[in-house]
Formats: sequence, structure tokens, C-alpha cells
Amino acid sequence: MKNCLSKDLDLKGKKVLLRVDFNVPMENGAITETSRIEKIIPTIQLLCEKQAKIIILSHIGRPKGKVVKEMSLKPISEKLSFLLKKKVLFNSSSIVGDTKFEIDNISDGSIIMLENIRFNKEEEANDIKFAKKISDLGDIYVNDAFSCSHRSHASIDAITKYIPSYFGLQISQEITALEKITNKIEKPVTLVIGGSKISTKFKIINNLIKKFDNIIIVGGMANTILKHMGKNVGKSICENDSSALVKDIFENSKKYNCEIIIPSDVMVSSDLNGIGNEKDVDAVMDDEMILDIGPKTISSVEKIINKSKTVLWNGPAGYFENPNFQNGTKKILEAISKGTENKNIFSVAGGGETVAAINNFKKSNSFTFISTAGGAFLEYLEGKTLPGIKALNQNV
Ligand code: 3PG
Repeated sequence: MKNCLSKDLDLKGKKVLLRVDFNVPMENGAITETSRIEKIIPTIQLLCEKQAKIIILSHIGRPKGKVVKEMSLKPISEKLSFLLKKKVLFNSSSIVGDTKFEIDNISDGSIIMLENIRFNKEEEANDIKFAKKISDLGDIYVNDAFSCSHRSHASIDAITKYIPSYFGLQISQEITALEKITNKIEKPVTLVIGGSKISTKFKIINNLIKKFDNIIIVGGMANTILKHMGKNVGKSICENDSSALVKDIFENSKKYNCEIIIPSDVMVSSDLNGIGNEKDVDAVMDDEMILDIGPKTISSVEKIINKSKTVLWNGPAGYFENPNFQNGTKKILEAISKGTENKNIFSVAGGGETVAAINNFKKSNSFTFISTAGGAFLEYLEGKTLPGIKALNQNV
């Protein structure tokens, strides 16, 4: 990352096109979670101090190239203005006619947000003419949207062909943390991975198995493994066609000397709203579903985390939405955050459900780094080169 936004750049009066990811959750027109907006504030403040003219580009939702009133960025511009305590202008004309005129006339150090870039069908097509048209609005381009960088879209990828392009502060932090956990690892290193489907996380496991010492598999994914091992998982969430994937994981774990840890005991119930009974994995009945890991498993997971120097966490251990099945997730979270607070562990977490669990247990300050990304975080961990990052590296 040579081309990073920094205090040394002379940006006075320069029009900076800043691509961010303000794809925040909304309910009935109100923003329900603002961390993606808050994390970009240092970048915006730096650009304001440098007296740049800041043009914010973002998307929200998947409007599929059409104007969808409910997916306007107007409320987000108001929230940003509130958080920054500064005026944020809004241009609703989707990069036509008056957009350039309005941008050219804003004063140094001020901010204008453009309407949802995905209202233009050319955006998702990575259309080069459209990318050129956006680039003509500014003098330099900054990508501070790590969470969109797995998309080969015009305002992420093609735009970098036409304008000097930089990594923003937030994307640089994301890449540094993820590089540290995948390439510059302090060992022993442990992955705690949960969630419902092994098929969606199989590539991550097989990529990290080569470098990690321990992979702890929990959640619905563990049920698939238990079933593959001949255990009865009753009515539990489970994939029946993933035997080849499970076999591959165990073969690779031997090849690369990585220990795979799966639950030895679980909490079960006949339905999601139940109370929860402790069971050995050999004792699950046909009418029961596995909804959390049990106390013996928790204790062995804690021991492994306590011996680790680096921990990556993605995916809850159980159905934590019901308090009767939140103990596994809570205890994993506590072990990682305690190690991080005591400076024994470098910890990274990411993914929508994982971040929701961290926020639910009010532990957002006890990880070394929490990624704001969903799909991009997972694709990075699979070992893929993200198009947005590749494009910035090629622009140097
Ligand atoms: C995200 O929320 O992960 C990003 O904003 C990307 O959104 P997308 O999956 O609609 O491309």
C-alpha cells in the first residue's frame, strides 16, 4: 500500500472523490446501526483539515440500476452531518447535468454527498464510460470502502484507471489487520469459526488450515461434521451433501498439522424457544436440535484461546438470540477479549452475525480489530485478491 492517504499530501482546493460504504441497516427510514459511518469520520476530518473539497460516493442496498426512493442516501447524509457536527450538502441528481457544476462551486473544506451510486445501472457493470464520467468530477480518488472492495464496480474498480487513486485510512487499517492475521502471524494462531453452513466457509478453512495451528468449528457447521462422523444430530441445522468437503478438511488438517476441534458436548432443545439440555454429542435424540456448545467444549475452547497469541473469530457458537443458547458465544467472546485486554492476544473479528454478537455483549472495545465488512472480509480470508485493492495497487 504505497498510495495511502496521508497528512503529507497537498490537498488544498483539490476535489477528492471519496468512495465509502454507507450501506447501513435501516428500518422504516431510520438508521439502526451507524458504525460504518463512524469509522469513516477520521478520513473525512483529515480531508476537511487539508481544505479539500470532499465528494462522497456510496451505495445503499441493491436498487439494481433504478431509482428507488427508499434507498436514497439523503438520510445518511443527514446522519453524517449530525455525527460530524458539520454541514453536508446533498446532490440528488445521480451524476448528471448539475452535479459537476454544484461540485465545482463548493468551498474548500466542505462536503457534498452524491445520491446512491447504484441508481446508475453502469455502476455494477463496471462500465468504463461511467467510471470516466465519475472521475471527471474530481482531482483525486480515495477508496475507503474495504467492505465493497470485493465488487468489481465502476466506483471501486474502473474509476482507478482515470484518476490518481489512494487507499483511505479505514481501508488501510482493515488491510493491515487482516495481513497481520493471515501473513505476519504470531503463533500459536487459532481460528474460531461458526455459522450455519460449512459450504459457505469451506474455502476459508482450507485457506487458513495451511497457516493456523487450531481451527475450532462451532455452530451449525459443526453439526455437519458430527453427522459426517456418524453421530445423530436430530433436527439440527445441517448440510447433507457436504461429506466431500468435511473429508477434505480432515485430510488437509493432517497434511498441514492443524488441529481441528469440534464439540464434544452440546445444548439441545426440541425447538428454538426451548430451555436447553446438556448432552454428550453421542446422546442427541431424533426430535432434538443442537443449539449451542456444552460446558466441556467451552472449557477446552477456552484453554486453546488462552494459549494462543493470535485469534480470528467469525461466526457465533450457537443460537445466541435465545439467552438459553448464548453461553458458548459469550464465553468465547469473553476469553478472546480478556486475552486482548491483557495484551496476550492479537484478535480480529468480522462478519455480520459476529459483530452483532460482539455488540450484543458490549465487547466492541475489547478486540484488536473488528472488521466492518461482510462478504469482503470472508473473500479476503479465502485468499482471494479483491478487485478494489488490486485496482488501487495498479494505480501507483
Ligand atoms: C456490504 O454490505 O457487504 C457491502 O456494502 C457490499 O454490499 P453488496 O453485497 O450489496 O455488494
